[in-house]
Amino acid sequence: MTMRVAVAVSGRGSNLEALLRALEPKAPARVVLVLSNRPDAGALERARANSVPAEVLPDPADASDWLARLERHRIDLLVLAGYLKLVPAAVIARYRHLIVNVHPALLPGFGGRGMYGRHVHEAVLRSGARESGATVHLVDEAYDRGAVLAQGRVPVLPNDTADSLAARVLEVEHRLLPAVVLAAAAAGHPVPLPETVESAS
Ligand code: GRF
Repeated sequence: MTMRVAVAVSGRGSNLEALLRALEPKAPARVVLVLSNRPDAGALERARANSVPAEVLPDPADASDWLARLERHRIDLLVLAGYLKLVPAAVIARYRHLIVNVHPALLPGFGGRGMYGRHVHEAVLRSGARESGATVHLVDEAYDRGAVLAQGRVPVLPNDTADSLAARVLEVEHRLLPAVVLAAAAAGHPVPLPETVESAS
């Protein structure tokens, strides 16, 4: 059976694109719905260009609206790919262990409220850390706290800016997220990946 995947987005959607590219027609998982809290998210265009229904949430805090949409599309797995709002608690309860998020740092470091986008990379650079990376984890009621499923590491280079570090991390995200979704489809639910993805670039 094909795992039916919804992807929630707030921005440009490069992780969505990576997922769409990785899931060929015969893959055991398929993106069947894209949800956004922002009508201007570039990710919505990417979804439509790939003939995936793309819906804007009129009120992202409205759990029953979320649940109605997820049920209507018979969603098995919800992927947060650059989704910047909290998912309502009732949605997390209904899809417990079936929601994953990609975060652009090595959790549990550099996560939590306010740690998104370039704030994460700026904090990593300020800390003097020698490496960063990406994490895919299960989603629970708190930002960035659920069990880690996969991590990929990258070096932090001496001349890095938030942008150069973000680009290096993003490359790992684009490999890690499809790998987690494919493993989830094979197992029937999200599972930890045995290996980390390394990037020396
Ligand atoms: C990614 O770095 C993701 O980890 C973070 O937001 C960014 C989203 O990028 N949560 P995109 O919209 O997938 O291009």
